[in-house]
Amino acid sequence: MIKLSPSILSADLSKLGEDVIALEKFGADMVHIDVMDGKFVPNISFGMPIIKAIRKISKLNFDVHLMIEEPSRYIEDFAVAGADIITIHYESDIHLDRTIKYIKSFGKKAGIAINPATPISVLECIIAEVDMVLIMSVNPGFGGQSFINYTLEKINQLKGLSEKYNPSLMIEVDGGINVDNIKAVVDAGANVIVAGSAVFKNKEIEKNIRTLKEGI
Ligand code: DX5
Ligand code: ZN
Repeated sequence: MIKLSPSILSADLSKLGEDVIALEKFGADMVHIDVMDGKFVPNISFGMPIIKAIRKISKLNFDVHLMIEEPSRYIEDFAVAGADIITIHYESDIHLDRTIKYIKSFGKKAGIAINPATPISVLECIIAEVDMVLIMSVNPGFGGQSFINYTLEKINQLKGLSEKYNPSLMIEVDGGINVDNIKAVVDAGANVIVAGSAVFKNKEIEKNIRTLKEGI
């Protein structure tokens, strides 16, 4: 089954609670939470207090995407705040294996994200140890960017690697996904789709989720 994980980066942050409740009501499978530190990526978003606040009003799985330097410093904080899946960037942690084990030690699912220019081959040794791999299909930092087409081939390569080493792997794709390209992303092998602007545009969450799901 293909899962939809809307990114609250594009939500109406003045009414974040209402938007998160709407996601659950209208059939989102997870909530994608983009944490940015202004260093690993040029933007700053939100952190633990926001996750803690919305944890109280949602039972959906919280899919926390850490776009921060040295994420190992904050794993415990995100686990306590209410994350269900914690994803760190390959490019921001030189001790990936240790941090993946550390995430799992809190009973959380662990993921690795890779930037558009990072090849799939770097995941070969670690793929059996993770629950999810997130392929960035835009350069991380901002919502509303255009999908980078060459990442489709990477999804395909990851699918091949997962069949060999980790058949239950969640293959998540994040950035620039909309009703026009969602099918191509799923056909390439993705089973978790992140969408920010495509879910929240015109504040029509119900219609947008339906249209995206129908587009698969
Ligand atoms: C970008 C974030 C994405 C972003 C997706 O750094 O990781 O999750 O919010 O937004 P859209 O779907 O608008 O590209
Ligand atoms: Zn993200």
